[in-house]
Amino acid sequence: MCGIMGYIGHGQAVPVIIEGLSKLEYRGYDSAGIAVLNGNSIEVTKRKGRLAELQEALLHAPMVSDIGIGHTRWATHGVPSDSNAHPHSDCSGRITLVHNGIIENYYSLRKELMLEGHIFLSETDTEVIAHLVEKYYQGSLEEAVRSALADIHGSFALAVICQDEPGKIIAAKKDSPLIIGLGENENYLASDIPALLGKTNRVYILEEEEFVVVTRDRVEITNFAGDTVEKNVFEVDWDPIAAEKNGYEHFMLKEIHEQPHALRQTLRSNMSGGLADLSYLEFDEVLKDTEKIYMVACGTAYHAGLVGKIALEKLARVPVETDIASEFRYRDILWHPHSMMVVISQSGETADTLAAMREAKRNGIKVLAVTNVVGSTLARQADRVIYTHAGPEIAVASTKAYSTQLAIMYTLALYLARLKGGTSPEEIAALSHELLHIDKQVEKVLAEQETIKKLAEKYQQVQSTFFLGRGYDYAVAMEGALKLKEISYIHAEAYAAGELKHGPLALIDEGVPVMALITQDHLVEKTMSNIKEVKARGAVVVAICKENLQEACQECDEQILLPAVHPMLAPILAVIPLQIFSYYMAVFRGCDVDKPRNLAKSVTVE
Ligand code: AGP
Repeated sequence: MCGIMGYIGHGQAVPVIIEGLSKLEYRGYDSAGIAVLNGNSIEVTKRKGRLAELQEALLHAPMVSDIGIGHTRWATHGVPSDSNAHPHSDCSGRITLVHNGIIENYYSLRKELMLEGHIFLSETDTEVIAHLVEKYYQGSLEEAVRSALADIHGSFALAVICQDEPGKIIAAKKDSPLIIGLGENENYLASDIPALLGKTNRVYILEEEEFVVVTRDRVEITNFAGDTVEKNVFEVDWDPIAAEKNGYEHFMLKEIHEQPHALRQTLRSNMSGGLADLSYLEFDEVLKDTEKIYMVACGTAYHAGLVGKIALEKLARVPVETDIASEFRYRDILWHPHSMMVVISQSGETADTLAAMREAKRNGIKVLAVTNVVGSTLARQADRVIYTHAGPEIAVASTKAYSTQLAIMYTLALYLARLKGGTSPEEIAALSHELLHIDKQVEKVLAEQETIKKLAEKYQQVQSTFFLGRGYDYAVAMEGALKLKEISYIHAEAYAAGELKHGPLALIDEGVPVMALITQDHLVEKTMSNIKEVKARGAVVVAICKENLQEACQECDEQILLPAVHPMLAPILAVIPLQIFSYYMAVFRGCDVDKPRNLAKSVTVE
């Protein structure tokens, strides 16, 4: 859950590293630091707080060098502070490194090293690695790092420099992402692709337990045993602008408006001839044999899975068990012999989701991953992967990743229905056609932005809200509540509309705002009776309502109308007003929309 960056070449390292770290702040931003090799000495500057604090410090004490490593942190061991910020060094200051991950046995290693006389300056697990390398250093940094890694249990993406070997950066990867950017007489290391956009589009994506020696003109990749690893260069097709804000005030609003494009890219990659087509996975035998699906994810991705469950059960007639990953992995799963797991993760690095996947694989269950990041751990370790093509999602609050995850859920359900029957070809064709053109309907909803902005302005001072719905609408209500909570810090609770009377109705009082999702034609009467329940107790009801159901929303105080799409596809439209509403609530409340407090974009720790 941290970002690391390295540079070695003919240019100035500091500006390259700082710019790269600025693209990685979404991975964590409670402190940042940089180390450079200067002749035969290492200089380190690190500060608690956002990257701007580090930049301020560098203004007063510039560092000049053509080789360096940098880090933006999300604290796991040791509070955010200057001393706990990375980089960390050994006792002599001759060896310095940055790390993303968790050293699970750091405590015993730290005790052992302290007994051997090592002096620790931080509370971090990472510092243990620096002292281990020092312990093993006998003139070869490469060998010393290899020996240190052999003692470590846990996850790491690591970059190490040594003042006695000034022409190289040593890097290693296990369970945390790390890529190598290839330049002309210069090379880069980074946690993620956005950090390299505009510098190079040629990268090596490191696999598990790979070790790299990076110099200005050479990149040598081996496994931890030292055997050479041959790698293909991956050409990144994200242009630099795509990762910038494109004129929007925040990444989140940009990404909300990118959804039509993201949906087009995603659907075109998974449909052909107007029908869902996942034959490229070469997974049909497993799909045909599947009699049960375990759908596992976290947060927004989990909410997408809830929509997937309803669609898969309806269209493909396959039972789907959904669970949040952090709960799933501690259950005593009664694995169905003819089952498969579907894991959903925008980043492909969420620790709980990865652990759930590994649990399935340990039990011989095939895993199909849905992720937005090529080369992510999830993508590389699942049996098959379907990519959402949402492009870089920088805002912590997931928007375009969610809607493209929904698109994949529908595609999977339609494809499985084609393979297994359960839905008529005519209905499959009609749904597929509507899905393939859903981007146009999304554009219509996005055009309502100013209306929704006014709603947010009106309700910006509320302290708590309810989101209600039934069926698909309940799944979307959960996503809407999460969006509002995570960026505006307003308490928001999603509830199945039919469940209110079993307790939560007691919370409804004069003026309590209720967002009501009304897109399921066959459930509208029931939902309306729930709306009457809350209205009778003084609630203010904002209806997110399909235009053909507008009659049912007459009693609501506000109405945001949606195009009358098939109920199954309604979630892709219904979530848009909730995203925009949450965005403006956060803006009016002066919150940090793209980097909400306490959160990080990729939760790579458990
Ligand atoms: C979504 O807005 C949140 N930022 C969070 O719930 C996120 O969806 C969750 O952490 C899962 O992330 P992933 O999709 O990268 O696995």
